[in-house]
Amino acid sequence: MNIHNISIIGSGTMGNGIAHVFALYGYKVTLIDIKEEFLERSIKTITGNLERQLKKETITKEKMDSALANIKTSTNLTDAKDSELVIEAATENFEIKKSIFKTLDENCKTGAILASNTSSISITEIAAFTKRPDKVIGMHFMNPVPVMKLIEVIRGLATSNETYAIIKELSEKIDKVPVEVNDYPGFISNRILLPMLNEAMYCVMEGVATPEAIDNVMKLGMAHPMGPLTLADFIGLDVCLSIMEVLHNGLGDSKYRPCPLLKKMVAAGYLGRKSGKGFYDYTKK
Ligand code: CAA
Repeated sequence: MNIHNISIIGSGTMGNGIAHVFALYGYKVTLIDIKEEFLERSIKTITGNLERQLKKETITKEKMDSALANIKTSTNLTDAKDSELVIEAATENFEIKKSIFKTLDENCKTGAILASNTSSISITEIAAFTKRPDKVIGMHFMNPVPVMKLIEVIRGLATSNETYAIIKELSEKIDKVPVEVNDYPGFISNRILLPMLNEAMYCVMEGVATPEAIDNVMKLGMAHPMGPLTLADFIGLDVCLSIMEVLHNGLGDSKYRPCPLLKKMVAAGYLGRKSGKGFYDYTKK
């Protein structure tokens, strides 16, 4: 199957990054969200990120203009109906995803592939709510999407070899590196990354060191581009907590218990960069 038209559901950080990349590579993108203002904000972000690439001379002005022209927006989920591929990047909530996949399954072409950018929810379970579980797959992009090369391609129990092969080829066409993963809690990326971030939070809670010191150890000693607490703030502390809960519930091992400090910060509304406060303060310029 040839893929030309791609719908992206959800225009937040991940959705706008995914739309940015496909539009830049010449695909026709329909970006769908529930509110017009979310879509307007998303197009502003995409424009800003394209301008950043233009300034660095990694793209030309023509490329930037054609990428923006390749994106149309909609507040109606059924506008995904003409796409050969739909990538869901909505809120990390099972009930929301279930309802989106049911609607997509009822409205999209028979051959269309339905993918999810979920960072931890089971692809097998999402697929079970559709009549095309063989055409449901995970495409887990990393933030910032225009920069990070990886796509974890997650095979649910029923995902067909044909669906996997199409998504692998498509990922390579947009210059990403697909890595095949079977559907288990947290896949590879978050099963390994999140316990490390969680452990850094325990170090803060137990007074082992300050967030700055912990981040410096991992940046300067292990050559990580961001320290674990800066990265947790970047991902969002609510997202970190929900992934730890998926690991804890799904694998049943106490080593995945979420750090009590993380729970307390999320309860207080300290969600990291997006709320202005997390392990660091983002309100000061
Ligand atoms: N769009 C386009 N380009 C972007 C961008 C964006 N949103 N964000 C950064 N860039 C570009 C910059 O223009 C710059 O380009 P050049 O290399 O050509 O100069 C490059 O990326 C580096 O950016 P900066 O110079 O601004 O800053 P930096 O060197 O500190 O890098 C970073 C920023 C790329 C975010 C880097 O700190 C990094 O790699 N951090 C770790 C990110 C990470 O671990 N991501 C995974 C998170 S986990 C996840 O996403 C999955 C999940 O399920 C939770």
